[in-house]
This record gives sequence, C-alpha cells and structure tokens, in this order.
Amino acid sequence: MTVKQVLIFDSGVGGLSVCAQVVKINPNINYSYLFDNACFPYGELEHNFLIQRITSLLVSFTEKHPVDLIVIACNSASTAALQALRSRLSIPIVGVVPAVKPAAAMTENGVIGLLATPATINRAYTQELITQFADSAQVLKIGSTELVKLAEQKLQGLTVDKQQLQDVLQPWLDLKEKPDTLVLGCTHFPLLKKEIAACFDNKINLVDSGKAIAQRVYQLIDEQAVLEAVNIHQAYYTKAFSSQKQHLALQNSFKNYGFTALEFYSEC
Ligand code: DGL
Repeated sequence: MTVKQVLIFDSGVGGLSVCAQVVKINPNINYSYLFDNACFPYGELEHNFLIQRITSLLVSFTEKHPVDLIVIACNSASTAALQALRSRLSIPIVGVVPAVKPAAAMTENGVIGLLATPATINRAYTQELITQFADSAQVLKIGSTELVKLAEQKLQGLTVDKQQLQDVLQPWLDLKEKPDTLVLGCTHFPLLKKEIAACFDNKINLVDSGKAIAQRVYQLIDEQAVLEAVNIHQAYYTKAFSSQKQHLALQNSFKNYGFTALEFYSEC
C-alpha cells in the first residue's frame, strides 16, 4: 500500500489539534481536512445516525478525491464508527480514542478526570478502556458540548469565555482531592489547553491522543511516496457559514495549520 494522501476528518476544528501532531512528525506528507459542520456537534448525535452519516460522507468523499489513509480525528466518531468504516473502505483508517492508558500511568494521586463529549462519555467503548487500563484509579467524568463550542469560537477569532469554561469544570475544582491528570477525550479540547490548565492553577497533567495518532500515521506512511508529495493542503466543510466574516476567520485559522484553501464540499 502506497500512502500518498492523508485525510484528517472531524465534525469541526478539533481535528486540527491532531493534524498539528501528524504534520510535526510527518512534515512532508500531502494532507487534506474535511469537517462535517452540517452535523456538528457529533457529541449530541444518536449512535446509529452518526455511524450512517460518517460512513456515507467518507465513502462519497473518497470516491471524488484521492485518499490513501484517513485519520478520524474525533473521539465521538471513532468510538462509534471505526468498525463500520473499516468494513466499507479498503484504505487504512486511524482512529482516536481517549488517552486513558497514558493518564493511568501518569497520575500520582490516583484521581483522573475524563473530559469528553456526552457521546464519548456514555460509550461502552470508553467504559471498556477505563476497566482495562485504569481500574485501580478513580476516573471522574464530565461530558460537555459547551467546551466543544468554546474551541470552535476560539478558532473563529472570538474570545474564550473563561467563566463558562470554569463553570463546566467546577465539579472537579470543588473537590478536596482534585484530579491531578485530565484526559482530553475530545480533539477540540487540546485547542483550549492553556485555558483549561489555568483553571487548575497550571497544576494538572493534560493528556491527549494526538502524538500517538501521529506515530501510527508515521508507521503507515510510505517513505518513497512522501518524497513525491506536492504539499497542497486543502480543507473542506459540509455546510455554508452564516457570514463571510466567520468564513474568513476560520480560513485564517486553517492557514495557521498549513491549509492553503477552505472550500465547500458538496455531497451531490
Ligand atoms: N472533536 C470531536 C471529538 O473528538 C467532536 C466534537 C463534537 O462535534 O461534539 O469528540
């Protein structure tokens, strides 16, 4: 299998946190980005609908664009749809799941906070990860779509409402024995790393899966194909923005991650 073109996929801008890690250790790859803002937020969608939506969108996209490897840079999507996707597409698919295992190795006080979307928090897959890798720790959970939206706003150039962020984390901030390690189990949350750490007076370990995903991509990349890369990086969205201002602000953020264009992807 010759991997030439990597597609990063998410419901919104969260996949950019994974993209940054992927590009860091695979600097010469060709990559593109697709985000499904038409069905955002994924963390609120019904399980079967989500599986069908992601499968049909990615099957249609890969029919129209050359893609050799897909990174599902979304925990809500990966914990639901990886199996279905792999049975429909023959190219390698790398998924992202909450970094429970490294967090369990890192915690000193044995209290871990799992911060993810409501969907990821409630998935059987997530519970299995906890049972398998963090059985001896206390794993507290918060499922939040507000945080996902705050990250979206940040990349649209808006200021992050710190009070709103603190309100979401308050149940943990009030504890006598606070978590010393947080799993950022949604790819949007590393985009708020600084703000989240500040809520804990910067005395917290924040763990995400970006680096592990990047290393997996590295293993699957064909060196010779990388040498032939042309370095045109295109991003696509599935629903028009409410204003030109919003489009321009997002385009700017995508530019900071190396994308040369941000265009509408039509499924028809
Ligand atoms: N970035 C996503 C995740 O990792 C999805 C956020 C959402 O659309 O709810 O779960």
